[in-house]
Amino acid sequence: MPKVKVDNRPEADFDVQQGRTLLMGAKEADVAWRAYCGGLALCGTCAVIVVDGAFDKPTETEGYFIEGWGYHPGYRLACQARVVQDVTVVNCADLGFEQDKVLAAWKAACDKLAIQAD
Ligand code: FES
Repeated sequence: MPKVKVDNRPEADFDVQQGRTLLMGAKEADVAWRAYCGGLALCGTCAVIVVDGAFDKPTETEGYFIEGWGYHPGYRLACQARVVQDVTVVNCADLGFEQDKVLAAWKAACDKLAIQAD
């Protein structure tokens, strides 16, 4: 069973069944996770930055959302991203959605993954 490590909230690490969304896994593990739209890819409150590992490919709806925010690649919606292997993420809600903190975490993740951040 894949493991989810939440870099900025170590007490929130949990295991998730492969193929479940990150949000489903958090709920099943009784880990609090903001998701104001209930998982419909409408609000962005569930967003994470992928620090290590990978999820499945974004759906068209999710891709449109994350491209619009300008944090692609490495930025995913927990309600849409399906876990396929161990992953480490940063929970953006826990950063208070402060743009400088989110941008710094995203750039650090891009550096670690050797992705060019534009
Ligand atoms: S819960 Fe609203 S976008 Fe994921």
